[in-house]
Amino acid sequence: MNADPHTRTEDKDAPRTLRFPEGFWWGTATSAYQVEGAEQEDGRGESVWDRFSRVPGAVERGETGATACDHYHRVEQDVALMAALGTNAYRCSVSWPRLLPEGTGPVNRRGLDHYHRLVDRLLEHGITPLLTLYHWDLPQALQDRGGWRARETAERFAEYAAVCFDAFGDRVRDWITVNEPWIVGVLGHQLGLHAPGERDVAGSVRAMHHLLLGHGLAVRELAGRGRAGVAFSLYPHEPHTWGPADLAAAHGSDGYVNRWFLDPVLTGRYPADMRAHWQDAVGELDFIAEGDLAVIGTGSDFIGVNYYTRRIVSAGRGDGPFPWKVQPGRPEVARTDLNWEVVPEALTDLLVRLHRDHPGVPLLVTENGAAYDDEPGPDGAVHDRRRTDFLHRHLVAVHRAIERGAPVRGYFHWSLLDNFEWAMGYRPRMGLVHVDHATQRRTVKDSGHWYAAAARANAVPE
Ligand code: NOJ
Repeated sequence: MNADPHTRTEDKDAPRTLRFPEGFWWGTATSAYQVEGAEQEDGRGESVWDRFSRVPGAVERGETGATACDHYHRVEQDVALMAALGTNAYRCSVSWPRLLPEGTGPVNRRGLDHYHRLVDRLLEHGITPLLTLYHWDLPQALQDRGGWRARETAERFAEYAAVCFDAFGDRVRDWITVNEPWIVGVLGHQLGLHAPGERDVAGSVRAMHHLLLGHGLAVRELAGRGRAGVAFSLYPHEPHTWGPADLAAAHGSDGYVNRWFLDPVLTGRYPADMRAHWQDAVGELDFIAEGDLAVIGTGSDFIGVNYYTRRIVSAGRGDGPFPWKVQPGRPEVARTDLNWEVVPEALTDLLVRLHRDHPGVPLLVTENGAAYDDEPGPDGAVHDRRRTDFLHRHLVAVHRAIERGAPVRGYFHWSLLDNFEWAMGYRPRMGLVHVDHATQRRTVKDSGHWYAAAARANAVPE
């Protein structure tokens, strides 16, 4: 994370090359439940995803993360792949129930050993670890006591964070506390589509608050021994039309999805418009205790940006509790296999907007990627032209934001490996490396080779 200014080399006879700042992080990203497997090994406790994925109908084809990419047993091979991809950083998560099987209490040494091995291998290859503490695999024992709806979970999270800081802090400097609190709130607690499978709007707003509180308490535990931020799922908003009602709806929905998280973490305040909306929807927000916002609002060192697509919004009632409606997107825009619009320009706008709203706060693209179902061809290679194109266009978009002054310090592609995509199971393939889920064979896709060249050059062609 170096603050050097960007450069752009121009030579009339050569294709233009967009150079990234010195020290830029070229990374890939995964999370524990999505890649590790080894669900029953070395004393790991049960997580909410172990439980939820076994509920009939919860995950497509009844798939679970029990084996996933078997990464737990393939650390050497997978770190070697990261090195082959030319990357100098890796974002992964620590599994809370592997370290603290009951969510709290004695530390499971064998769980710690796995992450010691991983961190050591990364450093041997010159790859900087960025460790996420909570990427959705809450210990089931804590869920049984109320999960994120309960304030206690934020306190237990801070204790678990301290265990991680003490164990790995001599080698790990950069931390993501919580991954995508909005998605946890909406998919996990409002719509029941993710673990713990709840459908309780009031519970979801409590859960989101406690996730943010957990972030703040963890940052206090870190006490300057490193750098920490949240990875937010940020959706740039576009009004369906430029009429005042749609403009207001887009602003409102931006409050629900983006500002409700960015503002408290970076300014110590919930946005007033959204606070009023939540109060109308669920009543008094009495779980926000005095002093919570001071805890939430102190000490974040960067903003983690998970960006996949934009959100087009109109006035009217949709599925959610508020007076705005998500529109299906524009027919002329290309889509990924998940039907998400491919809109690289919106990533530039988002990064520039974050820089404008929160000047000086370093930005990390902690996730960006696409599902495309390319398989190895007769030549054994995976010619995933659409992913290479997606990657190229999004890196150009990041570079444009840097040119406009946004302090973007790194880019982490989601994902290193084709992995367990939550309720959709193994169907979506988002890796730079193809995984044959029957044999665990890994094949670097064409996009991975392209990324390696870009990472090594610290540059992309325009
Ligand atoms: C966000 C989540 O953090 C990650 O776990 C997920 O796989 C990707 N988005 C793709 O949906």
